[in-house]
Amino acid sequence: MPVEYCTLSGAAPIIVAHRGASGYRPEHTLSAYALAIDMGADYIEPDLVITKDGHLVARHDRYLSTTTNVADLPEFADRKTTKPGHEGADWFVEDFTLEEIKTLKARQPRAERMQHFNDKYDIPSFAEVLTLAKEQSEKRGRPIGVYPETKHPTALEALGLSFDETLLDTLSAHGYNSAEDPVFIQSFEEEILRRLKEKTSIRLVYLTKDMPDMSFDEIAEFANGIGPYKKLLSDKALNSTGFVEAAHAAGLEVHPWTFRDDEADPRLPNKLKEARHYFTLGIDGGFFDFPDTGVEALKRYKCDSD
Ligand code: G3P
Ligand code: CA
Repeated sequence: MPVEYCTLSGAAPIIVAHRGASGYRPEHTLSAYALAIDMGADYIEPDLVITKDGHLVARHDRYLSTTTNVADLPEFADRKTTKPGHEGADWFVEDFTLEEIKTLKARQPRAERMQHFNDKYDIPSFAEVLTLAKEQSEKRGRPIGVYPETKHPTALEALGLSFDETLLDTLSAHGYNSAEDPVFIQSFEEEILRRLKEKTSIRLVYLTKDMPDMSFDEIAEFANGIGPYKKLLSDKALNSTGFVEAAHAAGLEVHPWTFRDDEADPRLPNKLKEARHYFTLGIDGGFFDFPDTGVEALKRYKCDSD
């Protein structure tokens, strides 16, 4: 009998590799994305920031000290500085050219995770991530989606660095132009999504840590989906809060974050049961640091079962 899913479309939920297979490799490296693809992830997630010369690169933060070896490189000692919104002095992506960023190596920021891949991998440009996704899609005969997040668009705009055209041009140069392509662009900021909605038919996702201060119908005016903090979806007793049903009623897909093997919800018996709890709530996809867990949890899953 075919598996039934309680997603908006009835298709299987998508497994998004959060920062690549970031549970196993330094986040946002081609190695982390490639491992996620090997594990069966449907989408790879690059968070994006912008270099001094306008290139999009995959990093979760504008500052570099926690995820690279920049502090060990004497040639960049004088770039260390303080900026509003970040505690203490650091090195910031927007003060480096792409060529300079390419001399850095990535590091695992979480002490409890494997450290032996540190200083092995480069910081990838967004173009390199898209090239990997395209190559792997062809090689494997299945679409490998990309799920880029624009990080701090308003703050970067104030520095004269804009995402909009570069993001869309880079996607277009790799053949991603429409709602039919395996791409979601995500942001915590409504304004950039409203602008992008006017410029592209690529699907857009609005991220939120808290209950949104607008209705799902209002969000549906500028987004195709919503990416909530996962705990907004069920209450303390793990009953549905009605979030997914209300979002679906407005035509929004729901892609919560973040599923982490090493931070699994203690109220659920194990990491697989945790993922299945959310699948049963009707999510349309989820962000996994350990994407093999999402892939495994989806096996044998059907709507109304745990
Ligand atoms: O983009 C979904 C999720 O990744 C949001 O949190 O901080 O990991 O980018 P963050
Ligand atoms: Ca993200």
